[in-house]
Formats: sequence, C-alpha cells, structure tokens
Amino acid sequence: MYRVGFIGCGGIARAHAKGYAEVPECQIVAAADISREAVDGFGEQFGVSRRFTSYEEMLAAEKPDIVSVCTWPPQHPDPVVAAARAGAKGILCEKPMALTLPEADRMNEAARASGSILIVGHQRRFDSRYALARTLVADGAVGTLEEILAICNGDLFSDGTHAIDLMRFLAGDAPVSWVFGQIDLRQPTVTNTAHVGYQRWHETATRYGHPIEGGSLAQVQFTDGPRGILETGFAARPQGYQRFRVLGSEGRIEISGDPTPRAPQFLRLRRRGAGDWEEIELPPVNAFAEEVRALIASIERGVPHLLSGESGRANIEIAIAVMESAFRHERVTLPLDVADHPLIRHQAT
Ligand SMILES: NC(=O)c1ccc[n+]([C@@H]2O[C@H](COP(=O)([O-])OP(=O)(O)OC[C@H]3O[C@@H](n4cnc5c(N)ncnc54)[C@H](O)[C@@H]3O)[C@@H](O)[C@H]2O)c1
Repeated sequence: MYRVGFIGCGGIARAHAKGYAEVPECQIVAAADISREAVDGFGEQFGVSRRFTSYEEMLAAEKPDIVSVCTWPPQHPDPVVAAARAGAKGILCEKPMALTLPEADRMNEAARASGSILIVGHQRRFDSRYALARTLVADGAVGTLEEILAICNGDLFSDGTHAIDLMRFLAGDAPVSWVFGQIDLRQPTVTNTAHVGYQRWHETATRYGHPIEGGSLAQVQFTDGPRGILETGFAARPQGYQRFRVLGSEGRIEISGDPTPRAPQFLRLRRRGAGDWEEIELPPVNAFAEEVRALIASIERGVPHLLSGESGRANIEIAIAVMESAFRHERVTLPLDVADHPLIRHQAT
C-alpha cells in the first residue's frame, strides 16, 4: 500500500484525489495547506484525518510514499525538493513544473539524489484521444509526420504547457532544434476570476501567481521531425482547448480537445485516397488515475514515465523559448540558455 500525502488542497488536488481513489494500491493519509479552511474542506471530502498547515510538518510526521504537489507554480520547487529529501518514492507535481529552468533543474536533481520518481501532471498524455493519436502516428497511419497544429485557448504557461506537452508527445518526444515565437502582451479579458488560478487577478494581474501574456503564436521545429504550430490565447482559433490537427504525407488526424456540452470529443483519421473520415471510438479513461498507475510501475519496475521531470522541463523550455524569441525578435535555438522567466524580467524593466 502506498501512503499518499497532499501539498496544496485546492481545485486540482480534488482531481488527483479522485484519481488515487481508482488505484487500490494507494491510500491518502495526510494533507497540508497553508489555509486551514482548504485542508479541512479537502479532509472532510476525502476522509483524510491527518491535516497540517505546514507541508514540512506533514512530511516529517507522515513520511508519505507518494506526494502530490498541487500548489501554484511558484510554490512547486520547494515542496518537491522537500518531498524528495523526506524520502518520497514518487512525487506528482502539478504543471507547469516551475517558472524557470534552474528551478526545474533543482527539482530534478533533488529527485535524482534521493532516488524519487518525479513526474509532472500533464495527464492528457493518458487521455484516450491523445494516446490513440500517438499510437496511430507511431504505427504510420498518416505516413511521415509533417505538421502538428495545437490550438489552446489559454495562456502559455498555465494551458500552453499542456499543448506543448501533447505536441511533443505526438512527435514522439523528438528533440526540438529551434522555436520562433511572438507574444501578445495585452492582458486577457477575464470575467470569472473565482476559478482556475485567477483568484487575485484584479489586484495582481497574475494567474497562478505569475504574469501571463494574452496570446502567443509559435513555430516549434522538431529535429529531423515535424514542424509544430502553437496558437494560444488571442492567437488561438476559437475551436476549443487542446485541440490538434496532425498532418502527414499519407493522411491527417483531428483531435477535438477537451469536450464541452456543445462540442463533444472526437478523434478522426483521413487516409490518403480515402473518401471520408474514419471516426475512432474513444474508451473513457481517468487520466489522473492512469498517471498514478504509471508512477507505481516506475517505482516498482523502473518503467520510464511519460510525464518525467525531464519531460516537464522540456515543456517549460519551449514556453520560455516562445517568450524569449518574441523579446529578442529572433528565432532561438535549443537548448535554451535562459535562467529566468522572460515575462517577469520584462515586468521588472
Ligand atoms: N493538470 C491539470 O489539468 C490542471 C488543471 C488545473 C490546475 N492545474 C495546476 O494545478 C496547480 C494548482 O492549481 P489549483 O487550480 O488547484 O489552485 P488552487 O488555488 O485551487 O489551490 C492551490 C492551493 O495551494 C495552497 N497553497 C499555497 N501555498 C501553499 C504552501 N506553501 N503549502 C501548502 N499549500 C499551499 C493554497 O492555499 C490553495 O489551497 C497549478 O499549478 C495549476 O496550473 C493543473
């Protein structure tokens, strides 16, 4: 049995908790949040009696085997490092992994040093629509992969890192040679500030505790591979969230993105010469449970995890590269030698 501890007990922590509930090898034993109200609400909902207002105390007292870090990105590195030092076998940190590359390195190094498996919560890789699309691409259903278009209504770091992650997944996690990007620095119009990290938007103009741009457009060139096109925020076609079009020499795939009541999910494939789309059936999957099952396989059998800390770092490297390219007015090559967050630097100047 894996004893699970939570750091941060807000919205996404609930999705994690429902995921663990589907994995019989896991039991949530403790939770920590700086807000007493938040940790109590979470504890009541999921039957967790060991509640703390300090994650350091929770880690010291409970020594959980698996730790879910569900705080905002500026509060990801310290709890992850502390969980690794406290001997956690597995750490599931929410995305985006961190705001800067040195912070991501610090997290990966701490996990390596203590033998912890660190993963970053880009759970959509386990959603049936993207998992099936990846299998189709790998099996050659569209021939040679030429272009991946990602449409994401949201900002680069909060939502765009999911789109970048899926683009990399569809491209077989090929390395990226360069990124050419533009960002729209106008602030997004937010009408409902009560949810998803906009809580103090009017005071801080930040989301999840960091500055965001209103839109971005980027080319992402995979080495010896396809060209990715990323559209976020103001630059995104109004067609949904995490929606993809994959073009190959012998066909194309379209993925609906997250379903809404008016736009149900779908995955469809058109092969060269075929008259019509093949609609592909999508089995229901709880991606939050699947990322945990895969974490256990990594802990027990050393199976590489699709959401490794290195992969989480690669996602923020591309997001940072888009911003850096815009500020430099240049195409930037990877690996990227940028130690800070370009929007935070821009705000300070
Ligand atoms: N994977 C996904 O699809 C997905 C979806 C939504 C959000 N997220 C990510 O999850 C993270 C959290 O988002 P959320 O919407 O749950 O935020 P939230 O505001 O609902 O919850 C965050 C919680 O962390 C607590 N917290 C802050 N500092 C703390 C500390 N030092 N110790 C303990 N608790 C602390 C806050 O009090 C709050 O209760 C963000 O990084 C966000 O990008 C991921």
